[in-house]
Amino acid sequence: MTTAQTDEERRLGEMRARALAELATIEASDALEEWRTRYLGRERGELTSVLKGLGKLPGDDRKRVGQAANEVKVALEQALEARRGELRQRDQASALERERLDVTLPGRTIPRGHTHPLSLVTRDLARIFRQMGFEVYQGPEVETDYYNFQALNIPQDHPARDMQDTFWVAPGQILLRTQTSPNQIRIMEKMRPPVRAIVPGRVYRNEAIDASHEAVFHQVEGLLIDETCTMAELRGVVERLARELFGANRKVRFRPSYFPFTEPSAEFDMDCINCNGAGCRICKYSGWLEMGGSGMVDPRVLRGVGYDPSVYRGFAFGLGIERIAMLRYGIDDIRYFAGNDLRFLRQFS
Ligand code: DAH
Repeated sequence: MTTAQTDEERRLGEMRARALAELATIEASDALEEWRTRYLGRERGELTSVLKGLGKLPGDDRKRVGQAANEVKVALEQALEARRGELRQRDQASALERERLDVTLPGRTIPRGHTHPLSLVTRDLARIFRQMGFEVYQGPEVETDYYNFQALNIPQDHPARDMQDTFWVAPGQILLRTQTSPNQIRIMEKMRPPVRAIVPGRVYRNEAIDASHEAVFHQVEGLLIDETCTMAELRGVVERLARELFGANRKVRFRPSYFPFTEPSAEFDMDCINCNGAGCRICKYSGWLEMGGSGMVDPRVLRGVGYDPSVYRGFAFGLGIERIAMLRYGIDDIRYFAGNDLRFLRQFS
């Protein structure tokens, strides 16, 4: 028995063809979802409306149309899944293409920093002095006139101030330290003897800049205070320093000098590391290289920090770190250290 197609069956066939044709042109997942609601949506889907109309059909028709509608539903759902799979695959392929990584390319070098020559020397100084029982301290670069000058026995009008023209932060009161010596005072104020301390750090002077003078440079300060303490021990410390830095045979000599905060005062030299004392361009044909200043701490300074000079005595010394680095590495111009020239700095990596 053949039955004439109902309107519903025709409508279903037409819808199926239309839906599949549309589906084939869809490229994006939100358009897929829109397609799904339009045809298969529970509320307003076109197929759903056919199914909802089934109840009005006569019994036979209802069964056939119902079956046909179900087939269409299954077909559309399968087609939807298939299309979704295709699109997903296509997207993954293009993501792979986009994120393609050629692992055979050589990597980019990540620049790696290294220690500045002045830091190398400072570390060495710390190591050498620690071996002799000194502790390493730091102090402020912005100082008061009191610590930088007055407490070191350099009053306001003292001619020693001329040697250390500075940069004032508050004229007459606050300045950039011209020496690490103020830390002698800071340390003695905080500690009871025995004291064995070094303080490396940056110092500032209003200098005319040339190959051996910079406005910013570094010093290391040394201080030893105890009940017994002599200049011979000072000499021993300095000699050990010279030998640790520049070789076991170095000789050291003291020359009488003047510093307001030591009495007696001496400058110390070592025999030239280049000519071993014979005389050369490096030592300006003297056979000796200047290393620093030193002396026995002046009783006035001790009294100023509340140490009794009849009980305690001590020595102090100070030396320039650039100078040591220049000798060690054969650098002939102090301006290289802060000049930011990578060709210079890379030699220390
Ligand atoms: N502070 C002095 C300067 O910058 C160096 C110095 C000399 C430090 C003698 C000392 C010392 O501790 O006793 O010229």
